[in-house]
Amino acid sequence: MPWKRRPFGGRGCARALNIADLREIARRRVPGFAFEYVEGGAEDEATLRRNREALSALRFVPQTLVDTSGRSLETTVFDRRSSAPLAIAPTGLNGMLHPGGDIALARAAAGFGIPYTLSTLSTTRLEDVAAQAGGRLWMQLYVMKNRVIAEDIMARAAAAGFEALLFTSDANVFGSREWDKRNYARPGKLRLPAVLDAMRHPRWLIDVLLRKGIPQFHNIEAFLPAGAASAVGGSTIIPQMFEPTITWTDIAWIRRHWPGKLLVKGVLSVEDARRAADAGCDGIVLTNHGGRQLDYCVAPIEVLGEIAAAVGDRLTIIIDSGFRRGSDVAKALALGAHTVMIGRAALYGLAADGERGVRRALDMLAVELDRVLGQLGCRSVADLRASLLR
Ligand SMILES: Cc1cc2nc3c(=O)[nH]c(=O)nc-3n(C[C@H](O)[C@H](O)[C@H](O)COP(=O)(O)O)c2cc1C
Repeated sequence: MPWKRRPFGGRGCARALNIADLREIARRRVPGFAFEYVEGGAEDEATLRRNREALSALRFVPQTLVDTSGRSLETTVFDRRSSAPLAIAPTGLNGMLHPGGDIALARAAAGFGIPYTLSTLSTTRLEDVAAQAGGRLWMQLYVMKNRVIAEDIMARAAAAGFEALLFTSDANVFGSREWDKRNYARPGKLRLPAVLDAMRHPRWLIDVLLRKGIPQFHNIEAFLPAGAASAVGGSTIIPQMFEPTITWTDIAWIRRHWPGKLLVKGVLSVEDARRAADAGCDGIVLTNHGGRQLDYCVAPIEVLGEIAAAVGDRLTIIIDSGFRRGSDVAKALALGAHTVMIGRAALYGLAADGERGVRRALDMLAVELDRVLGQLGCRSVADLRASLLR
């Protein structure tokens, strides 16, 4: 089978047709340990698989012979216009995939007209992202045992003009990503085969390690013990610093320090969604952390309908985990989500070709969503509703 239906073999993003093609370019461009950090899920990866299975199990029932000219993807989130119902999810260690990864992601989002969420574990200081990328910026918050770190991030993000804070609630006990761990001899120390594999990616070595030095957790490095600030292996050290005592009563503490929009990222039940609304949050992110935390967890798309029915009029509902196609996005909007966040889909673009690659990923998703709208007999994302799904 020399040429029929082979996996995508191109090197340039311009020829990539979909997110899976970008993933293939990314897989070849970065060393195995960096790709595995992005790709892996927790334990048996049952949650990771479920995210895709649950989305693919939903099928469309289109309306036919409807005028679908003049379609638009525009929407509003927190009373501000977005060019599409998308946002980039917070991901740590972006500098390991591409030099200045956070800035490349934020610039692509700003150019496209959607929000970018910066992780607490970013490799760029939040002030630098605000100065060099601009656009609509959201800040993700991990709360560590030393609460001063969270207070510092909230004060700095507010001063730098970040619009929203996404407080991640599903990672205070860290997931076991076994494929990621296998690359390390001990926390922070890569095994020899992983080092040798990295040597076989000279372009990555030059761009990421030699030109810029080993990426560091610049956002919080002032608070980290010696050796923990390095992004190579830091992901195996930092989780031990996370605060396991955090509860709903701490929302009041966050509110005292954060003046902007507040979302809890990690809600998957109607009860928790109601708690978030009662606690005065502005929104929730339905997520299982892209399958990286609790294994054998439901997919957010499975619980979206009931949560939207319960709190959709009180909270902005954002969803992520497993979104790789415009059709996936259409399904979530039809079931009541206001916006979809993309994690790995954007990272594949970043690893493949920096800002250009991220932009390509966003364009792909938008073009696909626009096509699905038309094929469903819809002219805007507001026309999507549950009766179009089975
Ligand atoms: C490499 C990687 C790093 C991540 N880092 C964070 C993080 O620092 N904070 C956070 O709240 N979520 C983090 N997440 C979870 C994402 O925000 C998002 O919930 C998830 O990626 C969505 O699933 P998807 O990758 O299938 O789109 C990370 C995900 C990935 C893949």
